[in-house]
Amino acid sequence: MEITVVGTGYVGLVTGVCFAEVGYNVTCFDIDVNKIGRLAEGRCPIYEPGLEEMLQKNLAEGRLHFTSDSKAVCSKSDYIFITVGTPENEDGSANLEYLEAAVADIGANLCKDAVIVIKSTVPVGTNERIYKMLQDIIHCDVQVKVISNPEFLREGSGIRDTFHADRIVIGADDYEAGRAVARLYEPFERPVVQTDIRSAELIKYASNAFLATKISFINEIANLCEHTGANIEDVAKGMGMDQRIGSQFLKAGIGYGGSCFPKDTKALEKMTEDYGYDFKILRSVIEVNSRQKQQLFYKAKEMLGSLRGKRVAVLGSAFKPHTDDIREAPSIELIAQLIEEQADISVYDPAATEKVEELFGSRLYYAETVDAAIKGADIVFIMTEWPEITQYDLARFRLFMREPVIFDGRNCYSLVEAESAGLTYVSVGRMSVNVNSYIDCLEL
Ligand code: UDX
Repeated sequence: MEITVVGTGYVGLVTGVCFAEVGYNVTCFDIDVNKIGRLAEGRCPIYEPGLEEMLQKNLAEGRLHFTSDSKAVCSKSDYIFITVGTPENEDGSANLEYLEAAVADIGANLCKDAVIVIKSTVPVGTNERIYKMLQDIIHCDVQVKVISNPEFLREGSGIRDTFHADRIVIGADDYEAGRAVARLYEPFERPVVQTDIRSAELIKYASNAFLATKISFINEIANLCEHTGANIEDVAKGMGMDQRIGSQFLKAGIGYGGSCFPKDTKALEKMTEDYGYDFKILRSVIEVNSRQKQQLFYKAKEMLGSLRGKRVAVLGSAFKPHTDDIREAPSIELIAQLIEEQADISVYDPAATEKVEELFGSRLYYAETVDAAIKGADIVFIMTEWPEITQYDLARFRLFMREPVIFDGRNCYSLVEAESAGLTYVSVGRMSVNVNSYIDCLEL
């Protein structure tokens, strides 16, 4: 059995390496020759805990291969998984350019029967379009099937999510071809949901949109907590214990970021618009999230007035911990606003510093530790709940800052601890601590 994975981005690499790990012979294909060269030497281009080790092991054991030669892979593959990106177009729709180019390349080179499995997130109807496209391009006498198999991996826990997936979704108009793809997943021993092709495409968008809805909902409840004096953590705990609601994705904060939720919610919104349907909840979810991303900055402005010339430390810039991804990260918007305010900014992130530097260059000071970032700072913004930040000794804020004022967008510390450490501490959906005494001291 020969499996090919087209596109060595995050999803493609994790998928290819995990298929090799359970014993298949896997070839990962990419048009980026340099990337393929590095991968063939066992160097992983993305930050994903455990991936490089597993990649090296499977390379050494001879089950994993890397190539840029599409002719060669098309002449031997039984299953071709397409995992290329579908980024956001300006109007919010999914850009299918890379997918179409990959399909055209496969179609032009395919000379044996194959099952094409689309893992890329695509609007409903795309798999059918791809099937038709292949029929037009393929010139050999071969049988080709197109199966939808969306993925639900989270960055930072992709391997774990593959081996412990809640479900494998397979959409097929040809039932037997769908079953064959389901059998490929048997070594993972996970439940399979097999549907028609359009339902599978929609399961992916609906799942991401639902999770985004949970986040925007709990963020709205957090804002309401601030008005009413309730505590969001207690409220979320009390809600989450109801099994019909579930405790996951009820963590209030400064909004969702990353490469999926922002892009997929917008693509779904655009798709529903194209169908002439007004998906009201989804529109609100997106709007609430963009407002939430600004929240911490406006809280600081409201409390402190101008931030001009203030020394500000931003702790965490990745969109979540255990990744170096800063796409749509709330920190990026905050840093841009702070630059506009002419604040003096230092940033700390255990993994994403290089990427932040590519964006902002010499306008920021890039600290290698939390200590170095907060030294002499007037204000701290916590944007990502890395363990280095959540487990930071609160006494050190007092040690390194004159009057520590912390705006915590991830509710990293308990109110009691923040209070006894003498911090002026503003978080999300919880009472603010020592704020009044700080303001009194400013006014004196
Ligand atoms: C998500 C989906 O979880 C995954 O199934 C899909 O395949 C890709 O998109 P990912 O973007 O890697 O995965 O990260 P995830 O852990 O879901 O977090 C997304 C964003 O939501 C982060 O910015 C995170 O901070 C935020 N979030 C998550 C919250 O603000 N509160 C929560 O309770 C959970």
